[in-house]
Amino acid sequence: MKKNKKIVLTGDRPTGPLHLGHYVGSLKNRVEMQDKYDSYFIIADYQVLTDQLSKVEDIEKNINEIVLDYLSVGIDSDKSTIFVQSQIPEIAELTLLFSMLVTMARVERNPTVKDEIRASGTKKASLGFIGYPVSQAADILCVRADAVPVGKDQLPHIEITREIASTFNRLFGKVFPVPEAILSQTPTLPGLDGQKMSKSRNNAIFLSDSPKIVEEKVMKAITDPKKIHLGDPGRPEICNIYQYYLAFFPEKATHSTSSGQEGIKSLCEAGKIGCVAGKKQLAKMLNEFLEPIRDKRNDFAKKPNLIKDILEQGRKKTQKRVAETLALAKQAMKMKYKF
Ligand code: TRP
Repeated sequence: MKKNKKIVLTGDRPTGPLHLGHYVGSLKNRVEMQDKYDSYFIIADYQVLTDQLSKVEDIEKNINEIVLDYLSVGIDSDKSTIFVQSQIPEIAELTLLFSMLVTMARVERNPTVKDEIRASGTKKASLGFIGYPVSQAADILCVRADAVPVGKDQLPHIEITREIASTFNRLFGKVFPVPEAILSQTPTLPGLDGQKMSKSRNNAIFLSDSPKIVEEKVMKAITDPKKIHLGDPGRPEICNIYQYYLAFFPEKATHSTSSGQEGIKSLCEAGKIGCVAGKKQLAKMLNEFLEPIRDKRNDFAKKPNLIKDILEQGRKKTQKRVAETLALAKQAMKMKYKF
């Protein structure tokens, strides 16, 4: 590891396998960033407990799936550090220290947390849930990250992280960088029904889906409801399938007539292609795109101990840095006692 590289940290909750939305919005970017930055990817298992205590028995399996997803899209464990949150107990200790620097009112006005409580249909959020952005600040600041690549919904958490770093530094002396958010530039990929893509809504295509499942899912996707017959002019801008063309095959989406091959956009608008044909073609192209990812995944899945070894290597490297951070923080807080 070169010292002059900036440190980035981002991560995922192990709630299920990763899907195409993760790929477009985050994973692709992570792969591209690996050489430029010293990257850390946290699999935030404690964060799952904040609102899904009933799913504890799936966490281990989900961690395995996520590591395989990472590797199969090209995250390289020799370049980047993958680790599991609960395997670095210092993060919990740092969370405790940080919780003294944030008021209740401050955590309660986090818009993402509010949305999540509303969406869950319950007002009974646990203390751990209301406070999870503080734990996320510890995830980020434990390695003293300079930047955090995230989607828009995570920005309120990065804001709290920045405030915690600044408050700490002001009260006790400079220990933490004030990390920047690196906001994902790609538009969010909708689920097959047009809603936010998520496992729980059953509208996601997973990186690990088989070719048959991908085809079945694509064929069931919702397109322009006014386009019923092949000849009807369609509206790609409101069509979910078209968003997939744009995100994965932009040339195919908008290729001009002058270059010989007409793009899906103008074909659809002119009623020269039907939704079924558009879907069939997309399913085929997505399967071609996913094929090397599936092959890599199968190869990695066959290697005994691979995931265990990668996570152990990640834990060791992360823990070394985090122990240093915690020592610095405690020293600054006059808690490095002589007895
Ligand atoms: N909250 C993030 C999500 O749900 C996951 C996460 C946990 C994270 N810790 C993080 C993201 C630290 C960035 C940095 O997607």
